[in-house]
Formats: sequence, C-alpha cells, structure tokens
Amino acid sequence: MSQALEEDLDEKLKEGIQLSLRNGLVVMVRKLRRTDGESFYKFMCNLSPYSRSMFHPHPFDKQAAERAAADADSPNSCRLVATYSDEIIAYACWTHHIFRSHFPIVSIAVADAFQNQGLGRQLMKILIEIAKRRAKRGLELDVYKENTRAIHLYESLGFKRIGETLDKRQYVMRLEFEAQADQKNGRGFKFMLSFWRRR
Ligand SMILES: CC(C)(COP(=O)(O)OP(=O)(O)OC[C@H]1O[C@@H](n2cnc3c(N)ncnc32)[C@H](O)[C@@H]1OP(=O)(O)O)[C@@H](O)C(=O)NCCC(=O)NCCS
Repeated sequence: MSQALEEDLDEKLKEGIQLSLRNGLVVMVRKLRRTDGESFYKFMCNLSPYSRSMFHPHPFDKQAAERAAADADSPNSCRLVATYSDEIIAYACWTHHIFRSHFPIVSIAVADAFQNQGLGRQLMKILIEIAKRRAKRGLELDVYKENTRAIHLYESLGFKRIGETLDKRQYVMRLEFEAQADQKNGRGFKFMLSFWRRR
C-alpha cells in the first residue's frame, strides 16, 4: 500500500483500488457512482434468497437501486462497491441515521459466489476508516440473530451488542471509535494497512 493511498483514500476510491481475496482473485473497490443504478439493481437481483433476507436496508427494486446511486456523492453517506469483470459483486455503505448522525448505519452484502473470502472484512475496514476521517463517533448496524457469519465479522472488528430491535429478531450493534487523539495519529488506519499488506 503506497504512502499516496494512505493520504488519499477518499480520492483513490473514486477511481478504485485493488483488493485480493483469500482465493487469489483480485477485485476492484470503488465508490458507488451515479451511473451505477442499473448494475446495482442487477447485483441485488442476483443475490440468493438467503442473502437477500439477511440484507435489509431497503427494498430490492429498481427505484431503491437508483435512489442509492443518486445519493452516491452525498457527504452524509459512504457507499462502496466491489467489482469483478466490471460487474458489481459487493455493496457496503453507511448512511446517516436521522436522529443519530454521529453513528451512521452500516449495510453490507457480498454476492454469494464471493462470500467468505475476506471481502466483507476489507470493505468494513474501509467504511470504518472513512467514518473516522469524517469525524463520526462510531458506526451502528442491525443484524439478524441467526446471521452468525456477519456477527462474527462485526464482533471481530470491535462492534458490541447494545440492544435488539423491537421485534427482537435482530441485535443492534455499535462500534465506538477511540478518542480523537488516537484517531489523529492514525492508529486505526495503520491497523487496516497492516491487514492489507498481509494479503
Ligand atoms: C455477511 C457478509 C457481508 C460477510 O462478508 P464476507 O465477505 O462473506 O465475510 P468475510 O469472508 O470477510 O468474513 C467472514 C468471517 O466469518 C467467518 N465465518 C464464516 N461462516 C461463519 C459462520 N457460519 N459462523 C461464524 N463465523 C463464520 C469466517 O471465517 C470469517 O472470519 P475470519 O476472517 O475471522 O476467518 C456476507 O457473507 C454477506 O453478504 N452475507 C449475506 C448478506 C448479509 O448477511 N449482510 C449483512 C447484513 S447485517
């Protein structure tokens, strides 16, 4: 990982950065673009019923895909996609919660054929780093209690269970960032870079 990327993550993500998966495939991660509505919709349509049932930030229709793409440049959200052969194969975002803008809400889905290869973890680390750089206090998410893979991933990144949804089917999880001093000296990002270097 070059020094330039350390300093310029937001800028590099506009063009895209390469990430290696456990199986050796190399994918591109970049910000969602306004022109991605169609391919984002295709990605949602191709998720298996199980993956769709676990991913729940918005409905799976064309309008939802286009709304997300239209919001691509908003300062109140961070929306990433991973692509392989120019097809979207993962989506990860945080968006402001109307009442809790210091703790944006995370959503993530990886295409079934690319799951369990380390992509979700790498995307989560980028989302976390960008949230820190934008002075958020942390991130929150809801996760179905039976989604053991996602829960393992979130807990290993430091998310804690802080409650459950009204229907009691999901945990509410929160990652609180360390104090500002640690953020300023870039500890979190160095951790992420060491992860990337290991790949
Ligand atoms: C959940 C999801 C985003 C994770 O992304 P991913 O790329 O598959 O995850 P990764 O490979 O980066 O990490 C998975 C981790 O869970 C572990 N894992 C895999 N299956 C597991 C299981 N059944 N129980 C517990 N842990 C499991 C893996 O070993 C890995 O941990 P490690 O890095 O410590 O070895 C992805 O699987 C997905 O899109 N699922 C469907 C939609 C969804 O559930 N979205 C989340 C909504 S809250």
